[in-house]
Amino acid sequence: MARADLRSLSSSARPVRIGVLGCGSVGRGFVQLASAHRERILARSGVELDVSHVLVRDLTKDRPGVDRRLLTDDADEVIQSGCDIVVELIGGIEPAGELIRSSFEYGADVVTANKALLAAAGRTLFREAAASGRRIGFEASVCGGIPIVGAITRGLAGDSLESIQGILNGTCNYVLTRMEEEWMEFDDAVRLAQDNGFAEADPALDIDGHDAAQKLAILVELGFDLESDSERTIALTGLREVGISDIAQARARGRVIRHVATARHTADGAELRVAPIELPRTHRLAGVRDENNGVVLRGDAVGDLFFSGKGAGSMPTAAAVLADVIEIAQSRRGALEGRRPAASRTASSPGGLVLGRA
Ligand SMILES: NC(=O)c1ccc[n+]([C@@H]2O[C@H](COP(=O)([O-])OP(=O)(O)OC[C@H]3O[C@@H](n4cnc5c(N)ncnc54)[C@H](OP(=O)(O)O)[C@@H]3O)[C@@H](O)[C@H]2O)c1
Repeated sequence: MARADLRSLSSSARPVRIGVLGCGSVGRGFVQLASAHRERILARSGVELDVSHVLVRDLTKDRPGVDRRLLTDDADEVIQSGCDIVVELIGGIEPAGELIRSSFEYGADVVTANKALLAAAGRTLFREAAASGRRIGFEASVCGGIPIVGAITRGLAGDSLESIQGILNGTCNYVLTRMEEEWMEFDDAVRLAQDNGFAEADPALDIDGHDAAQKLAILVELGFDLESDSERTIALTGLREVGISDIAQARARGRVIRHVATARHTADGAELRVAPIELPRTHRLAGVRDENNGVVLRGDAVGDLFFSGKGAGSMPTAAAVLADVIEIAQSRRGALEGRRPAASRTASSPGGLVLGRA
């Protein structure tokens, strides 16, 4: 029996140990939420979660609500500590990817919110997870607190997804709403988004549409059966070309402008694009305001499903991460006890696709 499996078996009676990589906006939210809801999670899900290590770069930073004794700046200390689940919240492609691979090797399942990594290397990571018998949850990587990954992978598992249409970037939507409702110029609206914490100091990743394209790539990978990389090409137009006059002209036609990511099947495969488009005021996405996200999924059998809510932010994103952690923890426990986790819990959990071990 492999070392990791032996370690898992011996762990059946103890709390599920969590190693957290990163203690920034989402990481800190996760640590606080896991601690605040520890008793409730145990009562409802039957698993006790124990955050044992938290990786940071700077040990001297103030991190209210986080026990300093958990902090380390040594990634090996976390990954080789024997934790059951590693929660990757440092972001970026590397070292995040390497740390996730290493976690699989040391027998841990992984939960991540890292859309950039999944869009760039998700398929390889999923293969590696499956090969090492590990699981990876990533609900939080798309639309933060909106359980869209679970909706596609579980809710629509019995249907065929025809199209995805979504406002996947809160920064763009906040900027467009300010322009539309207060007649702000584009640059002023971006500055206001920065002042209010809805845009980075360098807003290019959001404003130029790359962030939305990364999220669309993940959703398409989950919901569409595409065969070639050419089918996965996303036509991308950012927000910079939208001016006040465009918004005024749209309004005169009874329409609004939204920055929308679209994927739909065509006779040749699929059409994927991210662009500012005009929508009738009655369209569901037209009513999505400020920094919120919204997604319309169209299933062949079920028709349109509409999701909206907070697509980012410390707590909404941390809640989605925690849901994945609970689901994996239940599943680990179920596997050790020779059964699957209770169906009702799994179905009601907004946890993400868990690939790897069945
Ligand atoms: N923020 C959101 O609303 C949101 C929403 C959805 C998804 N996400 C995703 O969640 C992930 C985390 O985002 P965030 O906003 O929480 O990021 P963040 O605030 O920048 O936090 C990153 C954390 O990782 C640590 N870190 C970074 N590089 C490291 C390294 N090489 N070694 C050790 N520690 C390192 C940082 O340490 P120090 O604190 O010491 O600098 C910090 O604690 C990203 O993948 C992001 O795309 C975020």
